[in-house]
This record gives sequence, C-alpha cells and structure tokens, in this order.
Amino acid sequence: MSATITSIGIYHPEKEIYNSYFESFIDTSDTWIRERTGIERRFYTAPNEYTSDMCVKATLNLSKEYNKDLHDIDYIIVATSTPDQPMPSVASQVQSRLNIPHAGAIDISSACAGFVNGIILAKGLIASGTHKKILVIGADVLSKVTDFTDRTTCILFGDGAGAVIVEKADNNSLFNTITGTNGDYGKDLYLAHQNAPISNSEVIANNKLHQNGRVVYKWAVQTLTGGLHELARKNNVTLEDIDYFIPHSANYRLLEAIFKELDIPMEKCLDSVRLFGNTSAASIPLAWYSAIKDGKLKLGDKIMLVGFGGGFTYAGIYIKNNIV
Ligand code: UT7
Repeated sequence: MSATITSIGIYHPEKEIYNSYFESFIDTSDTWIRERTGIERRFYTAPNEYTSDMCVKATLNLSKEYNKDLHDIDYIIVATSTPDQPMPSVASQVQSRLNIPHAGAIDISSACAGFVNGIILAKGLIASGTHKKILVIGADVLSKVTDFTDRTTCILFGDGAGAVIVEKADNNSLFNTITGTNGDYGKDLYLAHQNAPISNSEVIANNKLHQNGRVVYKWAVQTLTGGLHELARKNNVTLEDIDYFIPHSANYRLLEAIFKELDIPMEKCLDSVRLFGNTSAASIPLAWYSAIKDGKLKLGDKIMLVGFGGGFTYAGIYIKNNIV
C-alpha cells in the first residue's frame, strides 16, 4: 500500500523574542547567540496558550491552505515532549476540538525526532491497510519548560507546531527509513518531573529542560553524518542525488558542521532555527513549510528528513516532495 504527504500547515505564537531580550537577565549577547547557534529570533506562547492550542491552529491552517477535509481523518499522532498534561493526550484534544468523528489518537514522545517518527508510524499504518488518512503533528512549548537562569539552554528554545496529512495513494512517495537510539545518553538531555534516575544518574526533577550541550553536539554531528549515508544507502541513492535535506533545527552551527563533514552545500539544508529557535518536534515541519512558501521546494524534489535529540534517539526518512 502506497502513502504520500498531501498537505502541510504550521502555527507559531504571536510573541517574538529577539536575542537582546536575554541580555537584561543573563550574561550573554546577541553576538554570542548568533555566532554559536545562528538563532536570531524565536516565538513564545502566551501564559494560557498550550501545545494543543498550537496543534489545532496548525491543522486549521493546513485545512484552509490545502482545502483539506478533516472529517475523514482516521488517526491522529501528536509528537511532543511538552503535552498540556500526561493524560488526556494532546491528540485526543485535537480530535475533540476539530470534531474529527472516527479517529484513533496518540501522543508520541521522542523529542526532536518525534515528527519523523510520527511520519514513519503513519506510513506503517497505511502500508498495513488499517488506516487511510492520518494527521501527524509535531508541536512543543519549550518556553514553558525553559530554565531562564541557565544561559546555556534558555537562549536556544522556541514554541511552534507543524502538521501534515499522510494519505493512502496510488504512487508511493514515502520511502525507506532509519531509526536508532542510545539510551545511555538519557541523562544528557532531559525534562524530569519525578526523582526517578535516568540511566542510573540522579536528575534535577524541576520540570525544566536540562542539557549537556557539548555532549549532544558531538553525538549529533557523528550520528547524523553516518545516518544520512545510511539513509542514502538504504534508498539506493547518493547524497548528491538529494535536492534538499531537512534535519532537526537545533543549532545552525551544528548543521554547518554536519554538512561540511558530508561535503554538501548549505543551500541544500533547510532550517528553521535561525527564525524560530530550536522548536524540537516542530522544527522540521516549520522548515519544510517555510521552504515551500519561499518557492524553494518543487513538486517531486527528493528530500531527506532527519530528527535527532533527547533519548538520545534519531529517525530519518527519504521522501519525494508532493506538496507545494
Ligand atoms: O534539540 C535537541 C538537541 N540539542 C542540540 O543539538 C544542542 C547541541 N548543542 C549546542 O547547540 C551547543 O553545544 C550550545 C549552543 C548549547 C552551546 O554552544 P557551545 O559552542 O557548545 O558552547 P560551550 O557549551 O562549549 O560553552 C562555551 C563557552 C562557555 O564558557 P567558558 O567555560 O568557555 O568560559 C560557556 O559558559 O560559552 C559560554 N556560554 C555562553 N556565553 C554567552 C554558554 N552559553 C552562553 C550564552 N552566552 N548564552
């Protein structure tokens, strides 16, 4: 059974936060942030605005822009590390608020790899013949779990959501995938609300995001460099054949290191980090949508999506772009 992605929509909150905002309360500068991360701006949700609100708005934007009926969606997958609450799922809230009558609904937790894992799961459900039209959303409200006393993390994150519809199709455009995890690194990037140790290490359970940035950076460069080669090999293509890459947008400098290692020009790397910050599960759809609006992405373009992050875990997929 073949599957394709037929539409995309995004949402970002109204409040724009520029780098100068941080200069008043931590020892940092616009120059440091731009040079080390590429980030110029990010968006923060209002106090009463949560992940489910952004998911609903991204999906309504998708429906409006691509004239998509939401009524016959039969499964909803929301990738997020920042659900409104552990239960009910964000996906259930989306079902209710969009009046989708006959849909299964789950949230998945694989941090910045969540959106790609959502697409991989949707592809599998369609391939198995059990589902036909699946809403996949990546959304996070990282500003609500940011430790604003920690200058090494607080400057990085932003809020946003991106939604796609994965549908049964005559011609397949979702191809082979890669996935992998090294849970030993759990303690190097976490968000804990209980005192349970992670990988046998004690954690600070204050519901704030903690990151050992240098460890993630090194792992990400090594893993993505090898991962993209593996993804190409599994799809019988070369990296030169690929029109655009959409990696998780954690840090522009980190992406430059990966693409330099792979000898791929940065023009082929679509990012959202410079204008949205690191938005975790939302970063890939934000970059994808922006590239469509900028007129960069064309119908049939060969693209590779690769998410990576907390776990540590990663997921990638080779796609022929079917949305403009
Ligand atoms: O999305 C999930 C996956 N996450 C990632 O992929 C994140 C990967 N890691 C990173 O993006 C980078 O490691 C960071 C942006 C987090 C940090 O950049 P870095 O170049 O690795 O800096 P560093 O941690 O090696 O720190 C260098 C210096 C330190 O000062 P000293 O010890 O050399 O005196 C830090 O204290 O920069 C200092 N520093 C800052 N200075 C000004 C750290 N944060 C800041 C800051 N402003 N905001």
